[in-house]
Amino acid sequence: MPTAPIGIFDSGYGGLTVLKEIKRVMPEYDYIYLGDNARNPYGTRSFSAVYQFTLESVNKLFSMGCQLVILACNTASAKALRTIQQNDLPLIDPNRRVLGVIRPTAEVVGNYSTTGRIGVLGTQGTINSDSYKLEIAKFFPQLKVYQQACPMWVPLIENNEHLSPGANYFVQKYTDELLSQNADIDTVILGCTHYPLLIEKIRFFLPPAINIISQGAIVAASLKDYLGRHTEIDEKCSKTSTVRFYTTDKAEMFNGNASIFYGSDVVSESIKI
Ligand code: DGL
Repeated sequence: MPTAPIGIFDSGYGGLTVLKEIKRVMPEYDYIYLGDNARNPYGTRSFSAVYQFTLESVNKLFSMGCQLVILACNTASAKALRTIQQNDLPLIDPNRRVLGVIRPTAEVVGNYSTTGRIGVLGTQGTINSDSYKLEIAKFFPQLKVYQQACPMWVPLIENNEHLSPGANYFVQKYTDELLSQNADIDTVILGCTHYPLLIEKIRFFLPPAINIISQGAIVAASLKDYLGRHTEIDEKCSKTSTVRFYTTDKAEMFNGNASIFYGSDVVSESIKI
């Protein structure tokens, strides 16, 4: 009997927007969500800090039985994924897998654009890494990519201020700054798993014709496809429809905010990593 849940990791709550979609598409699997809320946000941290924290979190999920871990965090995918895949996994266990959220998004983004001008909104760390530019160039070399860091958005969301009138200022500021780079942008990637919580405001400040891409559904479809192609991994994944939630901070604190991101009640446990 397979016993491995699929691990879903984020620096905090954002990955819950991805888990929600994955669970919708693949309800039969077992999942463990881990939010490193005690050390969040990652978006403004150095490469080495994000790498260290992400590796520790992946190891924690491995120790809980996961054979496959999804970094449902763009910042961790940008700054830690490649090193973990290339340097750490061969030593830890070459049969386990860690996947990110940037590549699946880059693989499909060209299908949404007619002008060939793509905007990416993300944390400072994700934007500085240029990961989206590099990944999109592999699949759609003809696309031009314009990037905008939105350093105030994660703090607004984590503090539950994203629906307040005060949030409008920062949503307009960054969307205007993105569009000022090129007026023909017709597709905008929400390149941070927190940003779907701001989507109504982002939609309000962007011209209505612009496609806004959230990653949840894209990552879910990509994971389903991956498991269909990699049956050796799929066979290890248990399928009894359970979800367990863990946070590195206080569980009571996590539960309230997490249910907003996840869209239904969340009961978590606090763990040390
Ligand atoms: N949710 C994370 C992402 O997708 C970022 C949150 C943070 O800054 O920690 O990039």
